[in-house]
Amino acid sequence: LRRIIVKVRDGGYPIYIGSGILEKFPAVCEKHGIRSHVVIITDRIVAGIYLDGLVGIMRDAGFRPDVIIIPPGESQKSISRVARIYTELIKMKLRRDETIIALGGGVIGDLAGFVAATYLRGVNLVYVPTTLLAQVDSSIGGKVAINHKFGKNLIGAFYRPVFIFSDIETLKTLPRRELICGLGEVVKYGIIMKKDILDIIEDRDVPSGDNLKIYRKLVEHSANVKSYVVSRDERERKYRMILNFGHTIGHGIEASLNYKKLKHGEAILIGILAESFISVKRGVLPKVDFERIKKIILKISKEIPHKEFDKNSILKHIYLDKKIMNQRLNMFLPVRIGMMRFFDDISFRELSMAIDYIKEVFF
Ligand SMILES: NC(=O)c1ccc[n+]([C@@H]2O[C@H](COP(=O)([O-])OP(=O)(O)OC[C@H]3O[C@@H](n4cnc5c(N)ncnc54)[C@H](O)[C@@H]3O)[C@@H](O)[C@H]2O)c1
Repeated sequence: LRRIIVKVRDGGYPIYIGSGILEKFPAVCEKHGIRSHVVIITDRIVAGIYLDGLVGIMRDAGFRPDVIIIPPGESQKSISRVARIYTELIKMKLRRDETIIALGGGVIGDLAGFVAATYLRGVNLVYVPTTLLAQVDSSIGGKVAINHKFGKNLIGAFYRPVFIFSDIETLKTLPRRELICGLGEVVKYGIIMKKDILDIIEDRDVPSGDNLKIYRKLVEHSANVKSYVVSRDERERKYRMILNFGHTIGHGIEASLNYKKLKHGEAILIGILAESFISVKRGVLPKVDFERIKKIILKISKEIPHKEFDKNSILKHIYLDKKIMNQRLNMFLPVRIGMMRFFDDISFRELSMAIDYIKEVFF
């Protein structure tokens, strides 16, 4: 059981990482002073695979778990779902010194986290992330949120968990497309800070979820990068924006497709290549580094289903998102693999050329 601490002002919280560690979960809860009554929030798919096991282990250890199961999917991050969960928590008599356990991917984490931050002005929150994306990204950093009809993650809070418990073995059952989404963020961490990540994935196809050794290393490295960044800038003043690498163009791509044809992580993979192209064209990223990034992205993205892009729509969404029509954009760009620099003068023309480039590469 590896432990990484996310150090933040006035404290910190640990991330426990290992494979096949579920039976250790109750002991870790006890160590952190979690009281016996807990409410596990999860979705139907994850419940079908992992819930009975977790509930059994917790009961055996003397805990009293209640359970809330919701349908899977992004649409659950809604105020109406939150309201229904509040009602259940009140009926279950969850008290302020008790705990919500978020068992699932980023959707469950964001939703259960938002509920934990607001119910009774905040109850304890523990994450048991079961997707690669949740293990490397969404469970770390203290952001919780739900969506509004006008946009994603518009309603939310910064709220720290008591701890995060990542069992790599859960990735065995994760659909391949979800693995690829998580790998988008993993590659991002490799480029912004941790070359070792690229060394691990460079020469292979997307590993299946039962390659526990590989995923364990990837999750550990990634959790280290994310917690380092969050430790330096929990509230997203400027430095945390380094994590947005690939997201300006990636987000433009997903939005241009109405969030339907591509998943977030798939769009981010393409966004990473496009933003790296801006950097190499500026002459700040060496060509060899760019070629390496390109090779890795093309390999992972072989399995991405949709690769037709509407440039004007992507550009429109990027500028709508940033709310600065015809002005210059800010972003961190790689100046070599493992090192980023902040630029505040990214032009419309550069974005446009980057999108032309990905259209050409993926055609
Ligand atoms: N808070 C943050 O900092 C942050 C960061 C990044 C993303 N997010 C949010 O994360 C969400 C996406 O998370 P996600 O990619 O984990 O998607 P998800 O939670 O929708 O999970 C993807 C699918 O996999 C299923 N699943 C989960 N674990 C499984 C397992 N072990 N085996 C089989 N199936 C499993 C789920 O039921 C779901 O159908 C988005 O809402 C996004 O906004 C938040």
